[in-house]
Amino acid sequence: MPHLTWDSKTPPKPVPAALELDAIIYPQGNGYPGTDPENQLILGDNLAVMSAILSEYEGQVDLIYADPPFYTNKRYQVRVGRQEDSRRPQEWQLADGYPDHWPNVESYLDMLYPRLQIMHRLLAPHGTLYLHLDWHADHYARLLLDEIFGPERLLNEIIWVYHGPSPIRSAFNRKHDTILAYTKSSEYTFNVDAVREPYNPKTVKTFASSPKAGFGKVPDLERGKVPEDWWYFPVVARLHNERTGYPTQKPQALLERIILASSNPGDLVADFFCGAGTTSLVASQLERRFIANDLSWRAVHTSRTRHIAGSDTPFKMLYETSLPLERLSGRMDEFNITDSQVEIDPNLVDDLDYWEIDPDWDGEVFHSAAQAIRPRKKVSISRELMFPDPIGENKLAIRLVNIDGKQTQIIYPG
Ligand SMILES: C[S@@+](CC[C@H](N)C(=O)[O-])C[C@H]1O[C@@H](n2cnc3c(N)ncnc32)[C@H](O)[C@@H]1O
Repeated sequence: MPHLTWDSKTPPKPVPAALELDAIIYPQGNGYPGTDPENQLILGDNLAVMSAILSEYEGQVDLIYADPPFYTNKRYQVRVGRQEDSRRPQEWQLADGYPDHWPNVESYLDMLYPRLQIMHRLLAPHGTLYLHLDWHADHYARLLLDEIFGPERLLNEIIWVYHGPSPIRSAFNRKHDTILAYTKSSEYTFNVDAVREPYNPKTVKTFASSPKAGFGKVPDLERGKVPEDWWYFPVVARLHNERTGYPTQKPQALLERIILASSNPGDLVADFFCGAGTTSLVASQLERRFIANDLSWRAVHTSRTRHIAGSDTPFKMLYETSLPLERLSGRMDEFNITDSQVEIDPNLVDDLDYWEIDPDWDGEVFHSAAQAIRPRKKVSISRELMFPDPIGENKLAIRLVNIDGKQTQIIYPG
């Protein structure tokens, strides 16, 4: 079988990350304080993170969706703060998103290859990997996956088509991505009935008037059809209601189809390039367990707020200890604290993106019992947070995140 080779290609030598449990988030207090969730959102380089969880999760992950940088040689920015959805670019506030910038194709393959190998090890025997790329690198990835999984394990080459503006005038508009789905073995999960879709009304009409139409087989019009391997879903453009401002965010409908087809309720779904947290959010809404991971603090923060707004499932937040996690100490006089409520000074809210409280801070893990998130289209975030239990023997802790990413922690009494 032909293999893809390049000078620096070497077997992976992953060094496991030291992961620290930083917080447990109980969205709107759900599950607080007793629940110990398995769901995880992890900040860190995915090679080190996957290596760290390998001892516990080798052969245990039912579905992996991977949406890595595409080898576009761009640097993506995040739109943050107010006016993110405005049509006037001068009103946008931008921050670093993620780089997809490589000195050469070898360095890109050096990133991708060991990660695909370790994903293969993490997959359960009946598990599936969906690798999402486009024309920049999908041809390389197909050869790498053939090598790692075996060419006979290619389940589908899925083409996701969409519309959108483009400056291109000298070629056809490039408006599709490629998703390569590989199964770990020939016995794999595929819930065909969960993803059937209605036949086109024209097809229904044709068969109603002439059952002999088509290629001689009468389709079960009631049951719906098995989707083709080309999918249309609109991209998450500026005015899309799922929009977070994180770049290259994928539509929930795309992930819904993948998760419904290739996992069951209770299964473990992982995304180690999680970006804005689309996969883990949909997995959680569909009652799957999840592991989400990204190298970018902004991605992990976006995923956190998105989970809190879109699902009441508690989850852990871990980070790779080698990454600097800067947290400043704030001033106590900016808060008005009563038995079951914290009120924040109005001067603080303009730049505030997120805040949360742990009414019983043990000094180690932040048990987030109540959270407030800046609404996307309104001016500011809620100034009050109620917490479910009166302050216990420990202290009260408040954490704040500003639009520019500044994080503050305040302990009461100080
Ligand atoms: C294409 S985006 C993912 C978008 C995501 N599917 C969504 O719907 O929002 C790729 C992500 O991979 C992350 N990433 C790149 N290299 C990484 C690495 N070595 N470890 C973890 N995450 C990484 C980037 O920070 C970025 O958020």
